[in-house]
Amino acid sequence: MNILSPSILAADFSRLGEQIKEVEHAGAKYLHIDVMDGVFVPDISFGMPVISSIRKCTDIVFDVHLMIDRPERYIKEFADCGANLINFHLEATEDAVGAIQRIRFLGRRVGITISPETPAKAVEPYLKLVDMVLVMTVKPGFGGQKLIPECLDKVREVRAMVLEKGLRTDIEVDGGIRVDNVELALEAGANVIVAGSAVFKNRISDNVRSFLEKMR
Ligand code: DX5
Ligand code: ZN
Repeated sequence: MNILSPSILAADFSRLGEQIKEVEHAGAKYLHIDVMDGVFVPDISFGMPVISSIRKCTDIVFDVHLMIDRPERYIKEFADCGANLINFHLEATEDAVGAIQRIRFLGRRVGITISPETPAKAVEPYLKLVDMVLVMTVKPGFGGQKLIPECLDKVREVRAMVLEKGLRTDIEVDGGIRVDNVELALEAGANVIVAGSAVFKNRISDNVRSFLEKMR
């Protein structure tokens, strides 16, 4: 099944609870939560206090995307504040296996993420250990960028590895996805689709519905 994961980075933070309810009612099953630390990426977004407070207003799956240096330091905190799925960047850690094990130990689903400059092959040693691979389709750090088409070739490569190993790993894409290019991502083999500005700018419910229609 294809899943839409709207990214709250593009939401109006003064109306966050309301806008989350809106995407949920329109049919989104995941919520993509971008955590940036000003070290791994230049910007700082938000952290645990925001996640625990929105946890109180929804049961939607929290798909937390950690764009932070040495994510293994904070796994427990993100699990405690309500993450269901924790994605971390392979580029941000020297102990990916340790981070994976920590997430699993806390009973959360685990995803590994690769930035555009990281080859698809980098995920291979971890494929059997994770639930998801998140292939960034823009440089991490900012919403509203244009999709880099070459990144979809990496989605194809990851999908081929997953099939070859007989796994059921989810493949998520993130960055620059809109209603008019989501098909390309699905064709390449992605089944979880992040969309920030394409969902939260203007008519949120209509945007979610248009995505879901295209993704059916
Ligand atoms: C970028 C973030 C994305 C971002 C996507 O670093 O990981 O999740 O919010 O935003 P759009 O869909 O606007 O490219
Ligand atoms: Zn993201």
